[in-house]
Amino acid sequence: MTHGLKTNSGGQKLKSAGIVGTGSYVPEKILTNADLEKMVNTSDEWIRTRTGISERHIADEKTATSDLAVEAANRALHQADMKGKDVDLIIVATITPDMFFPSTACFVQEKIGAVGKAAFDISAACSGFIYALATASQFVANGVFGNALVIGAETLSKFTDWEDRATCVLLADGAGAVVIKPVKTGSGILSFSLGADGRSGNLLCLPGGGSRNPASAETVQNRLHYIKMKGNELFKMAVRSLVGAALEALEKCSISPEEIDLFISHQANVRIIDAAAKRLGVPKEKSYINVDRCGNTSAASIPIALDEANRSGRLKKGDVVVLDAFGGGLTWGACVLKW
Ligand code: UT7
Repeated sequence: MTHGLKTNSGGQKLKSAGIVGTGSYVPEKILTNADLEKMVNTSDEWIRTRTGISERHIADEKTATSDLAVEAANRALHQADMKGKDVDLIIVATITPDMFFPSTACFVQEKIGAVGKAAFDISAACSGFIYALATASQFVANGVFGNALVIGAETLSKFTDWEDRATCVLLADGAGAVVIKPVKTGSGILSFSLGADGRSGNLLCLPGGGSRNPASAETVQNRLHYIKMKGNELFKMAVRSLVGAALEALEKCSISPEEIDLFISHQANVRIIDAAAKRLGVPKEKSYINVDRCGNTSAASIPIALDEANRSGRLKKGDVVVLDAFGGGLTWGACVLKW
């Protein structure tokens, strides 16, 4: 059998897609819990015990989501030994785009020098990176594109109500990117599970500025251009969805939870990550945590964590990695990788 090729029911040649480079970038400015104590009625103790967060990175006034995305993308391309012009497809997962349109992917495309190549955004909140990776991997596996640059990037701080202690202590900025290419069958991306439940969309949303509530002096006055979250109601759903998505993806590639070498959950809250890992039977040392340093960066959290794990030597060839996300929509998704 030819390595890297299998045939689907339609007789097309299919390859597997795998990650060949990772990169990430977080803004220099650090906002600590002590800083937040001076801004809203909160405490370092409350934030650390309820969320696990100690500090987070915040972009400056001039920096937009595509600026962070480009930094992460260039690092991933460098690791993959590629230039911007070599990229065939760019997908950016974000809920904090530079503008409603053009897409953030188009801004990235221009800045990395991939002009002429396909570029679009995906909106699936904190699950966005998994949705984007699943989408890109179809194009690469069926040969439509030779490679893809998949980015999760957010500047949540620009849409954060800095007077709302329920959200401002959680949200942060950053970007992570991966390059995917065809790899040998049986390695790379082994399976996905994606899902959504639109009935609970109101639990986490940004109500103002869209066609439902077009921007007006009133929407601004009512602070509708900021992220609203019913955190407590999301909490239980988060754990259930993370566990369900991971188990479904594992089942699809006949891998058991005991075989997981590294579990990389969306970094929203260390209590959520620990609860999901525990239910999956993943020991703490196999669960990656950076929410303490990075806060919740929505679609960027998983690729940032993956890049940190990769660059720190925590991943070995052949390791089974589970990426697992949950977020607004509601949406969820998991991906099983053989590193
Ligand atoms: O990114 C993906 C989607 N997001 C999530 O998955 C987030 C999921 N939810 C969570 O992580 C947690 O629910 C939170 C961290 C948001 C909140 O933790 P909690 O343990 O669920 O707290 P709570 O909302 O039940 O609030 C407990 C108390 C309340 O006071 P009372 O009513 O008991 O007097 C809140 O008003 O804590 C209060 N509180 C705060 N106190 C100090 C809420 N935010 C703060 C704060 N500082 N920043």
